[in-house]
Amino acid sequence: MTEKERDRAVSSTLTDVGRTAYCGRVGPERVGETVTVAGWVHRRRDHGGLVFIDLRDRTGLVQVVVSPDAQGAFETADAVRPEWVVSATGVVAARPDGMANPDLLTGTVEVRATALSVWSRSETPPVSPADGANVDERLRLRHRYLDLRRPEVLQNFVLRDRVVFAVRRWMHAHEFLDVETPTLGRSTPEGARDFLVPSRLQPGHVYALPQSPQVWKQLLMVGGVDRYYQIVKVFRDEALRADRQPEFTQIDVETSFLSQNQILELMEDMVRSVFQEALGVQLPAWPRLTHAEALAQYGTDKPDLRAGPPLVDLTAVGQEVEALALPDETRWVGIVAEAAPFSRKQLDTLVDRARDLGAPGLFWIRRTADGVRTNAGRAFADGGAARLADAAGVRPDGLLLVMAGPTGAVHRHAGAMRLEVAAQLGREAPGFHFLWVTDFPLFEWSEDEHRWTSAHHPFTMPHPDDRELIATDPGRARSQAYDVVLNGVELASGSLRIYDSELQAQVFSVLGLTPAETTSKFGYLLDAFRFGPPPHGGIAFGLDRLVMLMAGADSLRDVIAFPKTHTGSDPVMGSPAPADPGQWAELRLTPWATDAPPRP
Ligand code: AMO
Repeated sequence: MTEKERDRAVSSTLTDVGRTAYCGRVGPERVGETVTVAGWVHRRRDHGGLVFIDLRDRTGLVQVVVSPDAQGAFETADAVRPEWVVSATGVVAARPDGMANPDLLTGTVEVRATALSVWSRSETPPVSPADGANVDERLRLRHRYLDLRRPEVLQNFVLRDRVVFAVRRWMHAHEFLDVETPTLGRSTPEGARDFLVPSRLQPGHVYALPQSPQVWKQLLMVGGVDRYYQIVKVFRDEALRADRQPEFTQIDVETSFLSQNQILELMEDMVRSVFQEALGVQLPAWPRLTHAEALAQYGTDKPDLRAGPPLVDLTAVGQEVEALALPDETRWVGIVAEAAPFSRKQLDTLVDRARDLGAPGLFWIRRTADGVRTNAGRAFADGGAARLADAAGVRPDGLLLVMAGPTGAVHRHAGAMRLEVAAQLGREAPGFHFLWVTDFPLFEWSEDEHRWTSAHHPFTMPHPDDRELIATDPGRARSQAYDVVLNGVELASGSLRIYDSELQAQVFSVLGLTPAETTSKFGYLLDAFRFGPPPHGGIAFGLDRLVMLMAGADSLRDVIAFPKTHTGSDPVMGSPAPADPGQWAELRLTPWATDAPPRP
């Protein structure tokens, strides 16, 4: 459909208004045409006896001019106020010389209205779309429908729609079936708290809203679906952050009979085709790092490849030159920043920042025309600072930050300092820097619970080379689990799954689950696996995170139409809200007495 046909299709359903064009699409090619535009009054001003109305709809603004000659219309134009809903009919004309507005796509034209109709009026809005983002966010979220009227806010939803459409197109072309799974179910093992829904018909029993369709999609593989996907709402009761909402959307995927490598290649192709279609961006092939490599090179399992070169391992030289009597197993790590014009004061601030992170200290070594300068004092013997700078390949004017300590801690601290340095230098490269991180550990030790927990989830297939370690040294056992990381944000997680009941029982026993507990929690899955489960594996992408990063937004709230606040509240409808006494009674529940007012 051409743009004009699309506009006509819209107008045919709005017979009374008779709209023929979207405001933001009335361009110079329409000069001479009579159009009817409809939308909200963005601004209105009187000038030289004429009334100018900036009319706004989803696509943007167009200027409507009403002259006193336009009988009826002029009086109406005089009366309209911001956010009134009006339609205007008139001829599209080029703006007089010198009156063009280069900031608007429609900035060279105007609609000279001969008729103007008011369809509804507005009180003075608490949040005016004309004020842009310069309004308290809480107020904007409370009146989100007014915020959505801003074309720059709606833009993110146009992108979201394109992304979803591109995902569906790719999935369909690759024979993935969109199969819906239940929302009322049982607890799924993703590690957050469940949202529970009490059952009326079975008092004392609850449904859990899905934290993911994980178990369902594995059952679909047992059912022979072979390639499944779903763009699905999931729910997690966990602490909220800019990149975490209590309800969010996953692009959830499961496949049968594919190797890990085949799954990675397919999913990379899917995302690359979505970027091409929705943004016109051609992504390069994604690098792959193992979990161990990611920690050694970036100090994190979510490397931000924009933030300068990887960390340098300086352990060999560090051990030779150190004069501090550190333990033998101390690891030395360097962060190189070329041409980093930090003042002495800024360097001191970096040292303080390292201490804030919990690091014992930070040495800086700057290569100058006449050698090296450092804050290390006598910490290095034997021209140590210069030898470290040589080992790290620091060029003249370059800076080397050196940290030392036990491997895990020093990687974590150096990874954080690498990001800090890049942020201070404003050196995060633009663009989309993807990578795969593979071979995650199978288990993590939980200090709180004093037991092994699953690093991904309990159905994750161990690495074929590490089967023995499950019994002998679980902490060293790797898994066939993988993440997609984009610009330092975890975008997707997945794994091959265990489909062998003996292996599954072994993993459950490391997790400290008794056979009775596993039967009660996952009996339905283990039952299904008695009847020919295929080898299978999959992944889930966070759709909201994907769109947030594609849109260049800072928060998931910018890409969710009605997001929750940091207290988990919905500011538009005011949920969560008290239930009626009758509803509690039907559920045979007694509410916890509380005098606390609802939190915004
Ligand atoms: P995981 O728990 O890693 O894996 O979730 C997959 C992806 O979902 C996104 N995500 C979130 N987005 C917004 N708000 C949240 N609170 C939130 N939590 C997670 C992230 C994350 O990478 N069933 C497994 C997948 C599998 O093994 O196939 C799962 O859900 O982008």
